[in-house]
Amino acid sequence: MTGPSPKPWIMDIAPYVPGKSKTDDGRKAIKLSSNENPLGTSPAARAAFAGAAACLERYPDASGTELREALAARHGLDPARIIYGNGSDEVLHLAAGAFAGPGDEVIYVNYGFTVYPIATKRVGATPVVAPDRDYATDVDAILASVTDRTRIVFVANPNNPTGTHASRAEIARLHAGLRDDILLVLDHAYAEYIEGDVDDGGMELAKSAPNVLVTRTFSKMYGLAAERIGWGYASAAIIEAMHRIRLPFSITIAGTAAALAALKDEAFVAHCRAENAKWRRWFTDEIAKLGNAGLRAVPSQANFVLVLFEGRLTGEAAYHGLMDAGYIVRWLPGQGLPHGLRITIGSEAETRAVVDILQRLVAQAR
Ligand SMILES: Cc1ncc(COP(=O)(O)O)c(C=O)c1O
Repeated sequence: MTGPSPKPWIMDIAPYVPGKSKTDDGRKAIKLSSNENPLGTSPAARAAFAGAAACLERYPDASGTELREALAARHGLDPARIIYGNGSDEVLHLAAGAFAGPGDEVIYVNYGFTVYPIATKRVGATPVVAPDRDYATDVDAILASVTDRTRIVFVANPNNPTGTHASRAEIARLHAGLRDDILLVLDHAYAEYIEGDVDDGGMELAKSAPNVLVTRTFSKMYGLAAERIGWGYASAAIIEAMHRIRLPFSITIAGTAAALAALKDEAFVAHCRAENAKWRRWFTDEIAKLGNAGLRAVPSQANFVLVLFEGRLTGEAAYHGLMDAGYIVRWLPGQGLPHGLRITIGSEAETRAVVDILQRLVAQAR
């Protein structure tokens, strides 16, 4: 008996690897491996979440009306053109599911977000990896990768795991160079962390262009990763197609209540943004001081920094050294970055501790 055979393209998927929260020998550690908010969640969001315990027997509103209206009011959007999902991950999968299939090509950048290959292969489409430019998104390389079969281009901006940010002019150039029948997905999971809060113009494109989807999440800056609330904005036609394949009840009552409260707590968001910018800058400067030992921080506009180890201290040794000291970061050999650690910007104490440990490891490796 052999049982049913999965589709061949399904078996070609490398399973998603989540950030670890325990050391290899099972100790609980400080987790700087999943780009979560070190400052937690808005107290108002926690209270709203707890309040939702009173309606556990009810299904959520399948049309997400309150969430869509609140997001529309906050961002100046048309609520009818908002889609939501179980994290922005689901929204990315919906985009692939509605717009790509066997025989189609989907482009994303080298060192791109690991959900893109999964979402692409899941629907039987063919991934096309555009080369990076010193770890950053290279618009020319993406445009050069387009063929008659291209259906979707995924760009995370800022990008994960590199943290790099493509400017408004670059995104406009990318969009201008793509045919109208190619869906440009601009993944803004980390958009709130951009220095000076300047955006890449993606939402303006999504408002006016027929082929741009912007995705966003409550998992990062809003500190609601546990509750899985993501959303997207695009033309009515794109959103309508995606709604057809969405799970009817993909976001929960408690998660929605928490997201609505989090959206109102602008002071919490401003505080988190300022703290992240301060400690990201400090961390980047400290890594620069270790430049003579071969450490290099890729310029980041997100809540993490990709540190490259190009000297005696290797990425692997630094990863294990940090873990031995109780800090888990993301080592990325599976993404072609055996020399890279993606380190979430933690609290002040955590960030200082990571630098102390790296300084010690560098000294030991000399
Ligand atoms: C670039 C990017 N996009 C999307 C996501 C998905 O986040 P969520 O499904 O929690 O909204 C992540 C999470 O790490 C990410 O890094």
